[in-house]
Order: sequence, then structure tokens, then C-alpha cells
Amino acid sequence: MTLKLGDLAPDFEQDSTEGRIDFHKWAGNSWVVLFSHPKDFTPVCTTELGEASRLKPEFEKRNVKVMGLSVDPLNEHIEWAKDIKETQGTALNFPLLADGDRKVSNLFDMIHPNANDTFTVRSVFVIDPAKKVRLILTYPASTGRNFPEILRVIDSLQLTDGYKVATPVNWKNGEDVIIVPSLKDEAEIKRLFPKGYTTVKPYLRVTPQPNK
Ligand code: BEZ
Repeated sequence: MTLKLGDLAPDFEQDSTEGRIDFHKWAGNSWVVLFSHPKDFTPVCTTELGEASRLKPEFEKRNVKVMGLSVDPLNEHIEWAKDIKETQGTALNFPLLADGDRKVSNLFDMIHPNANDTFTVRSVFVIDPAKKVRLILTYPASTGRNFPEILRVIDSLQLTDGYKVATPVNWKNGEDVIIVPSLKDEAEIKRLFPKGYTTVKPYLRVTPQPNK
């Protein structure tokens, strides 16, 4: 069955470059970015794993753990990690699952047979501390992912979990946000958004980001 937003992320045990992973236990109370790669020793994946490692401080700031996946065996992952360190200027600093038996790839529906019946596509899952799937992205093998976008969505999810707001098109952390249309009570709006707000239309009310 295809995973959908709001579903519980499946639990699994699998080998990785950092040992055997018991997924839910490993995730603990963190957010998780789980992302798949078509194959080891491929150029686009090499740059992505380097970039995700370089961004570790940004993920940590947001209480996010990162985990990669490729269907190649562990000994190849270990050799590939040497190339990543050599060419990307950053060592791999998160687990890369060795999903040779396709256990995790199948659980998360990362193999799209009409694109390629063997390799995983470039899937991204953002999972919250309650283990709920909050974002699903799927890229083709030929297109490297945009990590600023992944961080941007995490910022939006973490903000909108805590406040009655949504984030507009192309929003970035620190910019104005939208008060959710279901919030109607004027006194409550004033209480929740003491910095004030602008009514562009009754359903489009803009306020400074409340946690800044
Ligand atoms: C890559 O990661 O470079 C790649 C993988 C599969 C197909 C095309 C490119």
C-alpha cells in the first residue's frame, strides 16, 4: 500500500554504515529525513550525500536526524563513503541503509517499476517525532534534490504545528505568514498575533512570523 501524508511511518530493522538500525528506536524523539538513492558510485547521489552531510548543523538545529538508503550492499557503501569524503569535502555523517533485500524500499514504495524496476527513485520522507509521515517528495534519478527546499518545508511544518498559521508561496523562515482561515474570533486573533495583522481578503490575513 502506498504511504500517504499522516500515515505512521513503517518500522523496520536494516543494516547501515552505522550498524544495524531499528528505525523507530533510532528516530527517538527527533524528526527524520529518510531519502533514497538509485545506486552507489553514481555522480548525482555522491553530491547529494555530501550536501546532506555538510548540512548536518542545519538539521540538528531543527532536531532532525538524516538517513540515506541505497539498494547496494554494505561493503560498497563503505567504499563509496571514501569517495564522498574525498570529492565532497565532507565525510558521510549519517547512516546509509544497505537495502539489498529491498525491505525498506518496498515498505516506503521507493521503487517505481515504470521508471526503473530495480533501482530506487529519489524519494524523500520527512517524518515527525510521532512517526507520522509529513512530507513525501519523489524526484527522478537524473535530478539531484534541492536541500534548501527540504529544510524550508521542515521550518514550515515545525512552525505550523505550534501556531495557527500556514506559510505562503515561496515562504522562507522569518517572512510573514498567513493566519488559518478557520480562525474567526477577532479577540483570539489579537491575542494570538500581538504583532498585528493585515486583512487582504477575509480569507487572506497576513501576520509577521509569530516565533521571531
Ligand atoms: C546519479 O546519481 O548520478 C544517477 C543515478 C542513476 C541515474 C542517473 C544518475
